[in-house]
Amino acid sequence: MNSKRTVLVTGATGGLGTAMCKKLHQDGYNVVGNYHTKEKADKWLEQMKSDGFDIKLFYGDVSDFNSAANMIKEIEEKVGSIDTLVNNAGITRDSRLINMKPEDWNLVINTNLNSVFNCTKNVIQGMIDRKFGRIINISSVNGQRGQFGQTNYSAAKAGMHGFTKSLAMEVAKSGVTVNTISPGYIGTDMVMAVPEKVLNQIVAQVPLGRLGGTHEVAHLVSFLASEETSFITGANYSINGGQHVY
Ligand code: CAA
Repeated sequence: MNSKRTVLVTGATGGLGTAMCKKLHQDGYNVVGNYHTKEKADKWLEQMKSDGFDIKLFYGDVSDFNSAANMIKEIEEKVGSIDTLVNNAGITRDSRLINMKPEDWNLVINTNLNSVFNCTKNVIQGMIDRKFGRIINISSVNGQRGQFGQTNYSAAKAGMHGFTKSLAMEVAKSGVTVNTISPGYIGTDMVMAVPEKVLNQIVAQVPLGRLGGTHEVAHLVSFLASEETSFITGANYSINGGQHVY
């Protein structure tokens, strides 16, 4: 059955997105990715091809409703219906609130949270009609616990889970599940951009004593995309090496 399912991963060219695309492809899904920067997308496609992955990329600014709608329309015309949506696109603009510019607040909320509305809104009716769907929202440990310097990011990531829980209730009877994954600090470019001293302090708080691997998050995404997870909805899966337990 998996070979017939199409998965869209937003922010596909980032560290987590790339690992998700590879894992889902390996597990037999028809994988399409979303990109925002053409130059990065071209390099990414070249690399994927040489690694043996047949994954198509589609342009879309997921922070903009019309751009997300156009992208999804194009995917549906060229590839087919989207069975699983992984809302993975995200950015950081870290600073203390005292120094945060309104544009850094708005950019993070639009890219990390409003994008979830923009993409989900454009796929949900089709999923309901076909009586199958998987919405997987990639949040963060920092949406659960907060993080010094991330009022914008933590607010967006916490908001995602409220969205997950509410939509899960609305679409449960249509065979559509909606879940959140909250990764901790994973070895991506985004995390490696944190000042070394600060990052060392953070890793010291992780009982496993290391950063997570992108493949570890990708494995969880593929699990939640599967047919067998039909009774799991409105849930939040922590994957943080024990950094935040509750
Ligand atoms: N807790 C308490 N106080 C802290 C602190 C902390 N965690 N970090 C810094 N401070 C204090 C400093 O000691 C300093 O105090 P004094 O003025 O008394 O000396 C004060 O705050 C100002 O510190 P800075 O000069 O470093 O502040 P800044 O505004 O220049 O930088 C920052 C702050 C940009 C937020 C920087 O601390 C930082 O980059 N932190 C990391 C944030 C982070 O973890 N981001 C995660 C990105 S990855 C991601 O988001 C993926 C995911 O989902 C996990």
